[in-house]
Amino acid sequence: CFEGIDCTWKSTQLHLITEKLELLGYAVVSTREPTGGPFGLKIRELFVDRGVVTQEEELELFIADRNQHVQEVIAPALAKGCVVVCDRYYLSTVAYQGANGMDPDYIMKKNKDFPAPDLAIILEMEPAQGIQRIQNQRNENPNTFEEESNLTKVAAIFTSMQHPYIKRISASDSIENVHLQVVKAVEEILAHKKNQTIED
Ligand code: TMP
Repeated sequence: CFEGIDCTWKSTQLHLITEKLELLGYAVVSTREPTGGPFGLKIRELFVDRGVVTQEEELELFIADRNQHVQEVIAPALAKGCVVVCDRYYLSTVAYQGANGMDPDYIMKKNKDFPAPDLAIILEMEPAQGIQRIQNQRNENPNTFEEESNLTKVAAIFTSMQHPYIKRISASDSIENVHLQVVKAVEEILAHKKNQTIED
């Protein structure tokens, strides 16, 4: 999965690695959170007005969306042997709902029953640069999730995370250079998984 603050161009990298893996012959399921399902749609309403729910209710919406996503998309795809690539997963909940005042350890525990990613690429960038990208490219002001003060807290939580499956890549580099680093990280993990299968 791809993680990081807003405007690190995760979706572009998701698209590029999906194409690359398909060219290499892998069956790939490319997906994202929040989803377009009922909980995802409710979440999108929060981008207009975050104040309509409590912090706990906001967290529960992201968990409910993920629960449905895992049951209906991620778990069936993994069971079929597909490579699943996902734009945001539970580390985003730890970082964003953590920045919103919930305890990151508590959030992690709430996500413990979801499959852990083999690789979580955190695309890193200074929040000010992310905000500038939002303003330049979308020609609009950041929403509450994307405000610099919030993204600074989100980025700090991403920085503090320590899990064996995390790989950090600077998102300030060119799209092509970031892609090359993503390919390297993904190829390493796929080779490792193939070896594991052979040993089993
Ligand atoms: P996107 O811009 O990558 O589509 O993500 C939408 C927003 O949702 C983004 O500001 C991050 C936020 N978000 C959370 O707050 N918690 C989560 O668990 C996820 C998946 C996204």
